[in-house]
Amino acid sequence: MDALQAILTRRSTRRYDQRIPAKDIIDKVVEAGRHAPSGHNNQSTHFIVITDPKVLDRLVDLVTEAFSAMEASPDMYVSMRNSIERAKKGEYVFHYGAPVLVVVANRIGYGNAMADSACAIENMMIAANALDLGSCWINQLHWLTDNSRIRTFLQEIGLGEDETITGSMALGYSTDGLPTRTPLERKGNPVTVVSS
Ligand SMILES: Cc1cc2nc3c(=O)[nH]c(=O)nc-3n(C[C@H](O)[C@H](O)[C@H](O)COP(=O)(O)O)c2cc1C
Repeated sequence: MDALQAILTRRSTRRYDQRIPAKDIIDKVVEAGRHAPSGHNNQSTHFIVITDPKVLDRLVDLVTEAFSAMEASPDMYVSMRNSIERAKKGEYVFHYGAPVLVVVANRIGYGNAMADSACAIENMMIAANALDLGSCWINQLHWLTDNSRIRTFLQEIGLGEDETITGSMALGYSTDGLPTRTPLERKGNPVTVVSS
């Protein structure tokens, strides 16, 4: 698959089987993230690659606990409200049970933390598609980056005390075999062309 096709056919996959992809395949995806551009070539994006099911289960518990303790309100961002409502029902697996979760972090206070991380996550998602793996941006750990129990747990597995969680990415084989690739109609993202 060429680069443009990998970009144009990338979609979010939300159903994963439990096979952990081979280490060299995961490494290729993460390398694509590490090769993303960064402001002033800062290269401070940190990739915490979790394949240990016990660690993932613990994270699911901590995220569920954090959202269950929150109250949903109508003025809330809809995805956040959904997370709270589903957590309270006890049916919330925030990373869709993917066998790999790449938690992405960056320096607290660094102005390009989110921009650099987004470039890295998009690179990884495109690489995943090129390698026939499904992926999905998972934002819950970013929202919960200041939750003390989640921070403490993530610091035990490598998060720096000076780092904030900017996002994460689920990765694995789709239960459908190949990653979701059905094109999504573009209704937004307007383009303004100014030519002579
Ligand atoms: C910043 C950002 C945060 C996102 N957070 C989540 C998320 O927490 N959970 C999820 O299922 N999808 C998440 N997504 C995926 C979007 O829902 C998805 O990209 C969008 O619906 C378009 O679908 P596509 O990725 O299949 O093209 C996120 C995407 C971005 C860019």
